[in-house]
Amino acid sequence: MTNKVEQAPKSWLGRNSKLLANDPGLFLKKLTTWLRPMRADYRRRWALGLRKWMIRYHEELLFNKVTWMGSTARKMVLDAWVYQQILYDVKPDFVIEIGNAEGGSAKFLANMLDLLGHGQVIAVDIDHSLFAIEHPRVHKVTGDSLAPETLQRVAQIAAGGRGVVIHDGDHSREHVLKDLRAYSQFVAAGSYLIVEDTVIDLFRAGDGLGNVDGPLGAVEQFVREDPRFQIDTSREYFLITFNPRGYLKRVA
Ligand SMILES: C[S@@+](CC[C@H](N)C(=O)[O-])C[C@H]1O[C@@H](n2cnc3c(N)ncnc32)[C@H](O)[C@@H]1O
Repeated sequence: MTNKVEQAPKSWLGRNSKLLANDPGLFLKKLTTWLRPMRADYRRRWALGLRKWMIRYHEELLFNKVTWMGSTARKMVLDAWVYQQILYDVKPDFVIEIGNAEGGSAKFLANMLDLLGHGQVIAVDIDHSLFAIEHPRVHKVTGDSLAPETLQRVAQIAAGGRGVVIHDGDHSREHVLKDLRAYSQFVAAGSYLIVEDTVIDLFRAGDGLGNVDGPLGAVEQFVREDPRFQIDTSREYFLITFNPRGYLKRVA
């Protein structure tokens, strides 16, 4: 079956030919709106294309415009909405976030858990010097995600509960794969292991972004090794995501 989004786009006239036949007055109104010079900027935006939009988001928005309640969150905001839905569906006892940076994403997760009225955030980072948030649900664990002491502390806080894990730490393929192997134990059946920034593998040489051998390869290898996890592409319904093939559902 051909995916709708893969079909060649029709011209403006092609898309509106039915309207022209059925309601020429409304057609004329739309046409003049579309052609008005003041709309040129919007026409340019709409013609941008998803790939260029994604690059612009990384270059111009990610590190200085995207905040959650005043705290920098290095997130694709559409993914944050998907996280909200996953948290609502799973209702976890804890969310482990590997890689926290300024802490805006940990605050976002804690605020979602506030709304659910339940759950803790275990915020793991090798370096919490940028971390600038405090929240009663957030428990900082400072250390390399793979260090035995870090894993031990995480296990203590998790205490056998029902977990969601979000990986946003060291993005090298090798490290991500090791993290997935180590942290999959905390993911409950029916819950998610989310691997952030698989999109960086899709950028092209010359884009000036990302690591070409990053998290995406780790995901592909991990799901081959561990059949309890399946890539859930249904969570990519916005099309735009930092995590293509990065929403892993534990199915067994
Ligand atoms: C992309 S930032 C995290 C962004 C954050 N999740 C957000 O959405 O705002 C990556 C973080 O991973 C941390 N990190 C890198 N290597 C790590 C490792 N081996 N163990 C734990 N954290 C690591 C870095 O210190 C950095 O703060």
